[in-house]
Amino acid sequence: MSNKSTTNPLWGARFSQGAGAITQNYTSSVDVDKRLYKEDIAGSLAYALALKEAKVISAKDYLKISKGLKSILLEIESGKFEWKHELEDVHMNIESALFKKAGNAAKKLHTGRSRNDQISTDLRLHLDSTISEILTLINQAQKSIVKKAKKHAEDIMPGFTHMQIAQPITFGHHLMSWFEMLDRDFSRFSDSQKRMSVMPLGSAALAGSRFKVDRAMLAKRLNFKGISNNSIDAVSDRDFAMEFTANASILGVHLSRICEELVLWSSSQFNYVQLSDEFCTGSSIMPQKKNPDVAELIRGGSSKTIASLMGILSLMKNQPLAYNRDMQEDKSFIFDAADYCTTSLEIFSLMVTSINANTKKMRLDCNIGQITATDLADYLVEKDVPFRKAHEVVGRIVKHAESKGLQIFDLSTNELRKFSKVITDDVKIYLDPSQAVKARNLVGGTAPVQVKRQIERAVKILNKRK
Ligand code: ARG
Repeated sequence: MSNKSTTNPLWGARFSQGAGAITQNYTSSVDVDKRLYKEDIAGSLAYALALKEAKVISAKDYLKISKGLKSILLEIESGKFEWKHELEDVHMNIESALFKKAGNAAKKLHTGRSRNDQISTDLRLHLDSTISEILTLINQAQKSIVKKAKKHAEDIMPGFTHMQIAQPITFGHHLMSWFEMLDRDFSRFSDSQKRMSVMPLGSAALAGSRFKVDRAMLAKRLNFKGISNNSIDAVSDRDFAMEFTANASILGVHLSRICEELVLWSSSQFNYVQLSDEFCTGSSIMPQKKNPDVAELIRGGSSKTIASLMGILSLMKNQPLAYNRDMQEDKSFIFDAADYCTTSLEIFSLMVTSINANTKKMRLDCNIGQITATDLADYLVEKDVPFRKAHEVVGRIVKHAESKGLQIFDLSTNELRKFSKVITDDVKIYLDPSQAVKARNLVGGTAPVQVKRQIERAVKILNKRK
C-alpha cells in the first residue's frame, strides 16, 4: 500500500504532499467522535447565525448553510451519511458534506472559529445532555430504592461492620443508606453541570477572534449559562471531563458496593434476597446455578469509570497550554464513563425493584452473633455503670455465653446477675433485637419511626425534582 495521499482539502494548502495513509489512519478520530454530530451541527447552526448577525456572512449564505446543515443532520440520523476516515474528525466530515450542499457559503462557516473551540463546545454540549440523562436515571434508581425501603421499614436484619454481625438494623434503614449515596451523586453531577456550562466559541484557535460575533447571544441560544473569560483557557480546559469522570467513578464505586452486597446476600449462605431470574444467568455446566451476573457486571464495569478518570488525568497532566492534539484522546474515556453510568443505572433500578427480601432469614440471623451486646452495655450505663466498665462486664458475659454455645439473651436474669448486681428482669427488653432497633431513635437512627422519617424526607426530595 502506498503511504502517499493527496493533501487534506480543508487544511492542506501549505503542504506539498498529503499525510501518508498511515498518518491519516493514525490521526483520524471520526470513528469515535462522530457521536458528537448533533452538538456539532447545533453549534454550527448557532455560529452561522451569529456570523450573519455580525454581518460577516450574508443572509443568503446563512440560509444555504443552515439548510445544508439540517439536511446533513437528517442524513446522519437516517444512517445515509457516509463518514470518511480520511477527513479526520466529525467537524471536517460535516464541513465537507456542507460544501457539497452549500458550495462556497460552506467555506465561510469556519470564519473566526477553530476546531479547538468547536470541539470544546461540542463536548460541553454533549456532556450537558448526558448529565441530564444520568440525573434522570439516578432519580429513577432512588425511587426504586425508596419504594423498597417503605416496604421494609420495620423488618429487622443484622447490620455488619468488618463483615461481622454488629447490631440489629432494619432492612429499610440499610436500603435508605443507598438512597443517600446516590443523592450525593445526584448533587455532584448537577453541580458539575452548572460549572461546565461555559461557552468557548469566539475563542477560535487560542487567541480569540476579530469577528464581532455576539458571544453572549450565541451562548444563550446554545443554552450555556455563560461565556469563557479567557480564550487560552477555553480551548485548553478539560476540567469538565475530569470532573465528569470523577463523578462517574464515585457513582461507579457506589453501584459497585451495593451490587457487592446483592451478590453476597443472594448467596445460599446469606439467603437474604432473591434477585429476579431476569437479572441472573445460569451455568453451562452446573445445572443448579443461578448467578447474579448483572450485579457482578455493574460491580466489574465500574472499573471503566475509574480507568476513564485516570486516563483523562494522565492525558492532561503534561500538556502545555493551549490546544494539543493529545486532547483528541479524551473522547473515548468520556464516552466509556458515560455509557457505564447510563446503562448500569437503568438496569440497576429494575434489579432493585425485583429484589425479593427473605425477611424471615434476616430476622433469624439476628439470633446469632451476640447481636444485642451493645444494648446490654447501654442498659448497664442507664443503671449508672460507667460505659467502659459496662463494656468490660458485657465482654465477660459474652465470653461466658459463648463457652456454653449460647447467646446472651438465652441467659437467665440470675445468671446475668453473677456479672453485675444492677441487672434485673427489665434487662430482657434490651436483649431483644426488635426492641433494640426501636430504641435507636435519634434522627438518622435505625428505629422504624426514624426510617419512616428518612423515607418521608426522601419522597419530598424526589417530588421537588419533578
Ligand atoms: N479532533 C480534534 C479533537 O478531538 C479536534 C480539534 C483538532 N484541532 C486541531 N488543531 N488539530 O481534539
